[in-house]
Amino acid sequence: MKENDGKATRKTILQQLVIALLATSIVVVTVKRFGESNWHASSLRDEHNRADDTESKAAVANLADITAAEREGGNAAAVSPPAPVGDKTLVKFVFSNLDGEVGKEGEVIVRLKPEWAPLGVKRIQELTETKFWDECRAFRVLPRFVVQLGINGDPSVQKLWRGKFLEDDPVKASNTRGTVTFATAGPGSRTTQIFFNTVNNSRLDNDFVPFGEVESGMDVIDRVYSGYKGTVDQGNLQSLGNMYLKKNFPKLSYIKTAIFISG
Ligand SMILES: *[C@@H]1O[C@H](CO)[C@@H](O)[C@H](O)[C@H]1NC(C)=O
Repeated sequence: MKENDGKATRKTILQQLVIALLATSIVVVTVKRFGESNWHASSLRDEHNRADDTESKAAVANLADITAAEREGGNAAAVSPPAPVGDKTLVKFVFSNLDGEVGKEGEVIVRLKPEWAPLGVKRIQELTETKFWDECRAFRVLPRFVVQLGINGDPSVQKLWRGKFLEDDPVKASNTRGTVTFATAGPGSRTTQIFFNTVNNSRLDNDFVPFGEVESGMDVIDRVYSGYKGTVDQGNLQSLGNMYLKKNFPKLSYIKTAIFISG
């Protein structure tokens, strides 16, 4: 009896191992294919300054790099961040690695404008309250255009937010230098990615609604490292997080902390 039981157990363990191995292979293949498709989706342009209006819009359409399929699936993901309290309209971002150099820090104060974008502001407040911004790297910096960030360095955190799409706020303000705006991949696709307009990008106004404005620290935004331009693969960043960035893009500037301050 004992021996038979032992054999049976060994056989079961072997079966489980085979199943686990199969499952792992499927996951690996899926992740790999997903990464590749994202790579193709993010054909990036650096010559936006000289590009005509249509080209610029196409470049910005890649800002969030989200496929329709993810949008469908993502809406089910539910996290309940704490409700915004009081008038939390002033956020201080401490940036680090300015000019791509360790230890160089600076502060950027952003005034949120609920009158411009009530839904957008609410999301920014939720993200600030849950410390989402900490360690977020400015992974796409196109000189004389935008400084973009808002993919969390921890893939498990990013996964919670990635599918939480916001309805659009109607257009109120213009994307002039110093305004801050959600990146999108078309209507109803705002999640967590934002960009600072570093020049007058008013040509984006039809599709991108600013939610706030830099009150002080545009000189800091201008020192966010721009040497990698648009070469970061957003698919790899989504799945591997800051491990991918630290290894391949060590000079990226990043947000050390972001907190509400009183005005
Ligand atoms: C931004 O550019 C637009 C279009 O050229 C112009 O109408 C607007 O006055 C500019 N805004 C600022 C603040 O310079």
